[in-house]
Amino acid sequence: MLVACSIVFVYLNIFYFIYLKVPTLSANNKVIEKILRSIDFKGRKKFYDLGSGNGKLISGVASLYPDLECIGIEYNIAAYYCAKTRNIFLKNKVSYLRENFFKVNLDDADIVYIYLFPGVMNRLEAKLANELKSGTVVVVNSFPLKSKEPKKIIRRKFGALDTLYIYEY
Ligand SMILES: C[S@@+](CC[C@H](N)C(=O)[O-])C[C@H]1O[C@@H](n2cnc3c(N)ncnc32)[C@H](O)[C@@H]1O
Repeated sequence: MLVACSIVFVYLNIFYFIYLKVPTLSANNKVIEKILRSIDFKGRKKFYDLGSGNGKLISGVASLYPDLECIGIEYNIAAYYCAKTRNIFLKNKVSYLRENFFKVNLDDADIVYIYLFPGVMNRLEAKLANELKSGTVVVVNSFPLKSKEPKKIIRRKFGALDTLYIYEY
């Protein structure tokens, strides 16, 4: 039974990787810590993780900032249910939407976190420019936006992966 579930899980992840052109990867813990330290959450109400994967990042945010409404959007059904399971053990729950984030309006976002691949970033940039209200903070992991200058860059010592780009709209 466990083997069958693992095989289904792996096949679902391969299927969604091909379909969405983005694999389900988690940011590493050091990056998560940096993100949390680099953002001023004061007065911010809604945090979105576009492609929340297994929920590791957004769960950390929800636990640290209980007053923040955290919304994870994830289309990969296997990752979505992993995140929902993780939520059972959390005191401060995350709201998960099993949706294509291109179909979700982001006009109420105060902070948006993005860890996606270059193939989807162009389309996403147009959406952010159209929908985000002025003052929304966007944190991009590894693959920066092309149409906007970051306000701050938090670099890793080696390599471009896990470098954080902080934007303000
Ligand atoms: C690299 S993972 C990042 C996971 C998490 N945000 C983190 O930083 O740990 C990207 C996730 O985005 C999801 N994804 C990609 N395109 C999507 C879309 N259009 N709608 C919803 N989820 C999407 C993928 O399934 C994948 O789980």
